[in-house]
Amino acid sequence: MADNELIALFQAIGLKEQRAKETVKNKKLALNLQNTISEAGITQSGCDKSVGDLLYTLASTVNKDASTHLGYLARAISDNRLNSSEQVAAAIKFAETTNEGINDEEFNRACGVGVVVTPDQITAAIAKHLEANKNALISERYKLLGPLLAQARQIPELRWANGVAVKNELEKQVIAIIGPKDERDVIVKGKKKDKESKSTSISNQKIPTESKTNSNMFFEGELSKLHKPGGNKQIKPELMERHLKETGGKVLTRFPPEPNGFLHIGHAKAINVNFGYAKAHNGFCYLRYDDTNPEAEEERYFDSILEAVEWLGFKPWKVTYSSDYFDKLHELAIELIKRDKAYVCSCTPEEMHTMRGGDSGGERKECVHRNRPVEESLIEFQKMKEGRYKESEVTLRMKMDMQSGNPQFWDLVAYRVLYTPHHRTGDKWCIYPTYDYTHCLCDSFENITHSLCTLEFRMSRESYYWLCDALEVYKPVQFEYNRLQINNTIMSKRKILKLVTEDYVKGWDDPRLYTLPALRRRGVPPEAINGFVQDLGVTTSNSTIQVPRFEKYVRDYLDAHVPRLMIIIDPIKIIIENLPDDYVEELTVPFKPKDSSMGEHTVPFSRIVYIDKSDFREQDSPDYFRLAVGKTVGLLYVPHCITCIDVVKDAEGNIQHLVCRYENGPGVKKPKTYIQWVAESSRHNSPVRLHEARIYNNLFNSENPAAHPNGFLADINSNSLEVANGSLAEVGLHEVVSRKTKNDYESVRFQAIRVGYFCLDKDSVIEEPHSKANQLVLNRIVSLKEDSKK
Ligand SMILES: *[C@@H]1O[C@H](CO)[C@@H](O)[C@H](O)[C@H]1NC(C)=O
Ligand SMILES: *[C@@H]1O[C@H](CO)[C@@H](O)[C@H](O)[C@H]1NC(C)=O
Ligand SMILES: *[C@@H]1O[C@H](CO)[C@@H](O)[C@H](O)[C@H]1NC(C)=O
Ligand SMILES: *[C@@H]1O[C@H](CO)[C@@H](O)[C@H](O)[C@H]1NC(C)=O
Ligand SMILES: *[C@@H]1O[C@H](CO)[C@@H](O)[C@H](O)[C@H]1NC(C)=O
Repeated sequence: MADNELIALFQAIGLKEQRAKETVKNKKLALNLQNTISEAGITQSGCDKSVGDLLYTLASTVNKDASTHLGYLARAISDNRLNSSEQVAAAIKFAETTNEGINDEEFNRACGVGVVVTPDQITAAIAKHLEANKNALISERYKLLGPLLAQARQIPELRWANGVAVKNELEKQVIAIIGPKDERDVIVKGKKKDKESKSTSISNQKIPTESKTNSNMFFEGELSKLHKPGGNKQIKPELMERHLKETGGKVLTRFPPEPNGFLHIGHAKAINVNFGYAKAHNGFCYLRYDDTNPEAEEERYFDSILEAVEWLGFKPWKVTYSSDYFDKLHELAIELIKRDKAYVCSCTPEEMHTMRGGDSGGERKECVHRNRPVEESLIEFQKMKEGRYKESEVTLRMKMDMQSGNPQFWDLVAYRVLYTPHHRTGDKWCIYPTYDYTHCLCDSFENITHSLCTLEFRMSRESYYWLCDALEVYKPVQFEYNRLQINNTIMSKRKILKLVTEDYVKGWDDPRLYTLPALRRRGVPPEAINGFVQDLGVTTSNSTIQVPRFEKYVRDYLDAHVPRLMIIIDPIKIIIENLPDDYVEELTVPFKPKDSSMGEHTVPFSRIVYIDKSDFREQDSPDYFRLAVGKTVGLLYVPHCITCIDVVKDAEGNIQHLVCRYENGPGVKKPKTYIQWVAESSRHNSPVRLHEARIYNNLFNSENPAAHPNGFLADINSNSLEVANGSLAEVGLHEVVSRKTKNDYESVRFQAIRVGYFCLDKDSVIEEPHSKANQLVLNRIVSLKEDSKK
């Protein structure tokens, strides 16, 4: 069928035009769906959307084992026996384990055909469920919503109930018990939920972001559909029996970074998904360094990776290395050859490429080595191991299927010759296993239940399963989710390396980068990163997030969590002429207005104060409400306002200071604007002189630096770092700094009122909390408001 006919057919069963077009592009799915429609007896004239949706669900989720019964399943949908996606899933499960013809009665029972769950039954079952969990619900409140919903879906009486009805009922009863969400449940202010997570009533509101592991991300959407341990079929049932015995049915996941660079914000998602999923199910997560490429690995990356994981608040159950398994992997490679499922190939890389169809995607051919005797491959593989071949001369390849539609199945390389010593195994090996060979087997060795990875590995799933089955070892389930990409940044290791080595930025943790060490140094709190990632959730379609959205999240988080201080980035001196020289008034100032929990402190007000240059203008205008000669402005927390009466300049015409009057007499109107200030008082060690304030702007000018015609370096924003070196801070900074724990500069965060959010940079030198010798360096985490230029 031509593409446009297919699109028309898919639209006839109710798919939206966009979806129909995307489906047609995915050849395998398109073929599956076409078959499913035809098996269902539906013609070009189409069917109800509700039926069409279920056919689509069937076509996109049916697996190889169940597909022999595709016709039966499709007809069960078109004759209205199956009318929910839960039923379709149960039907696929049923079909998967049935070899002969399907017995209608058994099928109907297994899929809940004709079972009607009334609203009253739902109400009663949910009431019972919540009663049993009442105490926990009252103390944990909305954090429990996700887990409770997941449990409700497991209640036998609700097995076939309408999912939306169950969810609505649960939410209704939860409100009745603990009341609607209030400040106890809201941590981030003014944040909108992501469009992708469609949901009703309560869940449209904010979800607490600090609950790293109670997030609904694991109980709603794609991740809630994953199998339970024991639910994945094995090539031999005893493999599962042994697995369950060994693991006790616990969820086991792994975070498997290659130690060849620093982690970036995209990895924060992988960390949250893997560690978080395990934690949410009371399971464990491994940190496994995938160190199979000795050429790219460096010691410093190992430390930095663990540090980043721990910084985000996760603790690996065990830290392992793919290289721990080199012996075992080698033994299995020999086993694979013996099973005639691998062969030593002497094709050059170019020949291999040509045989795989070359650049033009031409005809694919099997090479002469593919059918060499097993004995010969065993001998050749031994010779590879003994170092009798040069690099690239020979490889061990898996005997997959050169005619498959999946390029990740064209006899992938399992082992290659490399004479680079390995950081852990030294020169013991001169052959190293590839990712495709290693990854699934290490997952298997570690009894991983859910191998969660990003979408670019989708095509690798087939070879993953193939290899586990070929060796008859325990086979985990691979699930792919969308990667977190942020525009206006560079994530590629190679490109970041270039920025570092060519001095565009100052190291891998330069706060303008989006590596995790950089974000940490910049002062972005780990809780904000986790919350952001969890809020975006897990889907199976790619999307790119724009930097302002990330920054808004960080800003909202900081707004709720950090104290406020008065900082003057670019000071201008004011002498208040009607105050005596020794005048000092101690003002009590809250660390956060309207939030007494952050405490308060004392700041001195005196005859000499500093304000920011941007709050003064020589050219006044009627719509300007800050300071100018003749204008009155309020100083935050100071009882009375000040009026500027004169500007004093030096011989070159530079402003030296302003002369102002303190309006403590009668009859002065309330000023329109209040500004931040700091005063001089040697007794209070005020103001605090800052060594530097570093203001970071976007490193790149455009949203997609990689697309710049002259390369991404040409897109660099020449103004990405502004350094102010005469800045002043109020004395409250001393107290905030004294809360610092060792080597943890970035955790000193605050809002500089009317300026932005800042933290201490690790370049700071701190002798003692109040010492004049301290050299405080500030980093701007984010601006106070989104830059209006964008
Ligand atoms: C499902 O199908 C059955 C049988 O046709 C019908 O009685 C029932 O109301 C349907 N349920 C839903 C939720 O549509
Ligand atoms: C995984 O399970 C197998 C049995 O299936 C067991 O022999 C092995 O020790 C387990 N591995 C780990 C790392 O727990
Ligand atoms: C998502 O992006 C990855 C990497 O860019 C790509 O390999 C994959 O095919 C994409 N997936 C979808 C569903 O678009
Ligand atoms: C965001 O970046 C991706 C690639 O990183 C690019 O394809 C896309 O066009 C960018 N979006 C915008 C709005 O520039
Ligand atoms: C600080 O700024 C002043 C004036 O702009 C400049 O002369 C001085 O060199 C700067 N100091 C440092 C350490 O950058």
